[in-house]
Amino acid sequence: MTIGVIGGSGVYEALPLENTRTESVSTPYGEPSDEATIGDLAGREVVFLPRHGEAHRHTPTEVPYRANVYALKSLGVDRVISTNAVGSLREDLPPRTLVIPDQTFDRTKHRTPTFFGDGMVVHMGFAEPYCPALASHLAESAREATETGIEEGGTYVCIEGPQFSTRAESEFYRSQGWDVVGMTAIPEAKLAREAEISYATVAGITDYDVWKEDSEVTLGEVLENAAENREAMNATIERAIRTMPADFESDAWTALEGTINTPTEAIPD
Ligand code: ADE
Repeated sequence: MTIGVIGGSGVYEALPLENTRTESVSTPYGEPSDEATIGDLAGREVVFLPRHGEAHRHTPTEVPYRANVYALKSLGVDRVISTNAVGSLREDLPPRTLVIPDQTFDRTKHRTPTFFGDGMVVHMGFAEPYCPALASHLAESAREATETGIEEGGTYVCIEGPQFSTRAESEFYRSQGWDVVGMTAIPEAKLAREAEISYATVAGITDYDVWKEDSEVTLGEVLENAAENREAMNATIERAIRTMPADFESDAWTALEGTINTPTEAIPD
């Protein structure tokens, strides 16, 4: 097993990895966000990639999602734990709660959501955007490793950004019964599925978005709470890696079966 970790806002440090090395991977989709850091943790190989690159260079729109997922796949990654900073759409999910979502709603507009196209036609099931087996393992790891509030399940609405939502948008998302709002779940989750990688997320709540009274999200608040969330997120990820069952299996590993109309070299074996 090789476990990929994609760090979101506030989670840049690699985990306590041993025997680390870095690798720059070139891909047909351009350069990944950064070098991958590869190391061992509890006898498991871990590959860490910071989503926004060095010094947070990429906006959520600019993140090279395809290159990142391709790079992880080429490095042998078969499961990815990703992290996100999110705003809460629910009173009972305050900042500094960790959420392991089980659904997403795609409100992005300017991102390429597939490796395919140009004569390669692939229609893939995506009813369960997060791997249920990995998400459940992450939630259990979070409960064991932290004292923080944990919400297992929930819908992550992914907006384009980089601006936060308007009050009308925020109220609309709430009225749909969605739980958290962020900017980076999509297309990462879609591309991971196309690459037959098991993928789940631990999302750290940094704010209440703007549906509450006259509230406004500030970057200061987001960064402060992202820093506060980091310890619980890292503890969750470390625990999830250490306790990853040897017999873990994911439906994502066979996701391409029966979906391709044309042979393709778009993603590596
Ligand atoms: N990331 C952190 N807080 C957010 C919010 N309120 N909306 C979108 N992305 C976020």
